[in-house]
Order: sequence, then C-alpha cells, then structure tokens
Amino acid sequence: MTTIQFPQGFHWGTAASSFQIEGAADKRAESIWDVFARVPGAIADGSDGQVAIDHYHRFAEDVALMQSLGLDTYRFSVSWPRVIDADGETNPVGMAFYDRLVDQLCGAGIRPWLTLHHWDLPAYLPGDWSSRSTAESFVDFAMRLHRVLGDRVRVWTTLNEPWCASFLSHAGGIHAPGHTEPTEAYAAAHHQLLGHGWVTSAIRAADPSATLGLSLNFTPAYPADPEDPADVDLVRRIDGTQHRLFTDAVFRGEYPEDVVRDAGPLWDDNLVHDGDMAVVSTPIDVLGVNYYTSQLVRTGEPSGHPTPHPTAPEAVVVDRPHLPRTDMGWEVTPDAFRDLLIHLHREYTGPAGIGMAVTENGCAIDASDPEAGPIDDQPRIDYLRSHLTAVHQAIEAGARIDTYLVWSIVDNFEWSYGYTKRFGLVAVDSQLRRLPKASAGWYAELIRTGTLSVPQSD
Ligand code: FCB
Repeated sequence: MTTIQFPQGFHWGTAASSFQIEGAADKRAESIWDVFARVPGAIADGSDGQVAIDHYHRFAEDVALMQSLGLDTYRFSVSWPRVIDADGETNPVGMAFYDRLVDQLCGAGIRPWLTLHHWDLPAYLPGDWSSRSTAESFVDFAMRLHRVLGDRVRVWTTLNEPWCASFLSHAGGIHAPGHTEPTEAYAAAHHQLLGHGWVTSAIRAADPSATLGLSLNFTPAYPADPEDPADVDLVRRIDGTQHRLFTDAVFRGEYPEDVVRDAGPLWDDNLVHDGDMAVVSTPIDVLGVNYYTSQLVRTGEPSGHPTPHPTAPEAVVVDRPHLPRTDMGWEVTPDAFRDLLIHLHREYTGPAGIGMAVTENGCAIDASDPEAGPIDDQPRIDYLRSHLTAVHQAIEAGARIDTYLVWSIVDNFEWSYGYTKRFGLVAVDSQLRRLPKASAGWYAELIRTGTLSVPQSD
C-alpha cells in the first residue's frame, strides 16, 4: 500500500436528488416522474416516488448522519412541483421545506449545493422540455428560490445531466416522459441549455458572488477496433451527441457542425433562435462532472428498437470480461475517468479559466438485505478508492478539481430501476431506518485524514 494526500481544503460530500429521496408526494404537484411511474412496465419493480425514503420527514436525521460522517458538502435538488403549484403560485409549504433543509445543513457546518433541476419536471408544464416556454418558466422558478435561499446557498447547479432529460427521455423512452421521438430530444436538449443560460445570467445579476454551473454526465466510448474507420466514426457520433453537443454549446457557444449534420432532418432548423447561443454559453464558474463508467462499442445491425443514440443506432456494446462490473452491469473503468477529467480540463474548463467538481460518482454494488446485518460493501470501497485515485491523478496532471461527491448518501429510488439498485453509503430497511454500510465508515475516515491508501500498482 501507498498513500495519496488530497489538497488542503478539498471538499468531500455526497449527492442526492429530490424525487429519489423525498417522498411526501401528497404535499406537492405532480412531476413527469409520477406520471411515468404509473405506466405499466416503466419501473422495474413497479415502484414510485410517493414515499421514497421519506427524506421530507427525516431530513434532520439525514443531515445529522452526514454531519457524523464529516461531510462538508451536500448536493441536493429541488422539486420544482413542490415549490410552484399548477396555478403558478408559490407553495409556501414546499418552499419552507427547503428553507429548513438549508438551515439544518448550515447549522451542521455542511455547505448546501443546490441543483435546480434533476429531472422531476412539473407535469403541468405543457410540452415539457420539448417546449421553449419551459425554459422561460425555469427562470421564474429559479429566481423565486434564489430570493428565499440565496443568502445561504452559494453554489447553484442549473441542470443535472441534460443528456438524460433529452435523449434518454425523449428518444430512448427509458426515462420520463418516455417518448421515442428523436426530434423532441434535440429540442429538449436545446431548451434545457437555453434555460440554463438564462438562469445563470439572472442569478449572476442578482448575486454576483454566487458559484454557478451545470452537471453533465460523461460515458466515454471507445472503438472496439481503433483501426476500423466504421468503429471510429461510431464513437465520433456517440460522443458528439452525448457529450460535445453540451460541452461545445456551453463553452464555445456552438453546436458541433458534425452533430447537427448527423442529425439531418431530426434537427429542426427553427430550433435555435438568433441570440440563443450567446445565452447558452453564458460563462459559468464550475463544471460538474458526473461519471460512472465507460463503454467499448462496435458497429452492428440497428436493433430497430428506440435508442437514446439516434445517430448511432447500429452501436453494439462489447463486453470486457476482465473488468469488474457493478449491479447496474456497468464496467468499472477508473482510467477512463482520469483521462476524461484531463481531457475536459484541456479542451474546456482550462481554456475557460474555471475548475471542475465531481458532482456524482459511485456504484450500485450490494444487493444484500440490510435486515440481515451490517453490509460489508468492500467492492464499493474499492470502486471509490480507484476513482479517487483517478481524480488525484488528474489533479497531478493539472486539472483543477476541488470537490468530490459520492452518489449517494442513502439507497434510494433509482429511476427506471426503482428500488432494485442501491447506490448508498447507507442502507435503508423496510422501516426506512438508516443503516450505515462499511463504506460510510471508510469515507468518514478518508474525509478526516484527506489520505487515501491505495495498492502500490495503482
Ligand atoms: C445519474 C443520476 C442520478 C443517479 C445516478 C446513479 O445519472 O444523475 O440521479 O440515478 O445516475
């Protein structure tokens, strides 16, 4: 074993999102995820977010848990339909919940990191993100929250993983609203980015010292045969729509020409209005990076099923049997994480003069029953250790990264997988009791010392 020392002042924390943990659905308007969860077969275990892990009622206990682990940052999201009712009025009960949560965090010495939109869009908004008017409504929602919480919340993330809320949701049909219309996916992506830009400049104007940004998800793709031009081009198309569409828009103020060309008739020529790209590329202060895995792909036959990769329907994922896998079936690839962070720093955040934060990283690994005794989730510890090593290597290579947030603090509602995939450092049993796993203690010790023990070969 050898040790790695993280810089002084490095921020350690966890992340979670409103729909996945809050419950208390009776106290808010419906979101598109409530509607989607009712579609037969949409959620693996037929579950929903009505109760979730009841964080709404147990938030003080959850904050105390985070404090006991020594976390200094907690990234949470706000349920828009909890804060604004269908008639457009602020819901005072919903707003008061976040007010109390933020107070509780500040009282515990934990930095509140607020994500404005983590997918639970109000169901009452006509046309969801495929409609431009949703981007306008997003500004109104954001500013009402900022007026109440802005004195204590100093870090604001506009969007979580807009690729998922556009391509997975509107082309792949896997996430709410469950559509399989690729044209809508491009529209949903643009309207989210437009809303992001408008909100960033509105908060900036009201609160110049706030730290603002968005969180993008990256699943680097590699060609199965780097010598085969077809595999290489496949990777270009996947990377283009999943990553560059977003990074180039935000950092360079343009949608990549090849991505628009690949989209062909799926790209509506009236989608982008004059001036939109200047809004989309409003300067940010931090790029949130969410990372779980990477993929090896090759060209095969289009399956004919809806796909979140409308310009790469012939993509086939190639197994790498030598790599460990998580319960999601995702291969454990920390080196790809290191390379990604260095790449993002060189291409985007470095030239923009800003840093990155790892706003999500973690794994679903233990399917064991919490009632059967304490969970020894050594594979999660190994996963976190190898990915933190990657973060450290990227820092050594010059990338500016000052925050690492584990997904997630407590097992929760994992979208279309329901409660079947467990990402928490802490388990929940059938009574919703919080039961720390071995990884929680391990993470607490890492935070206390800032020192990571790693096998020599790492
Ligand atoms: C990310 C999501 C988060 C969670 C993790 C496992 O894509 O942002 O809500 O589902 O994956």
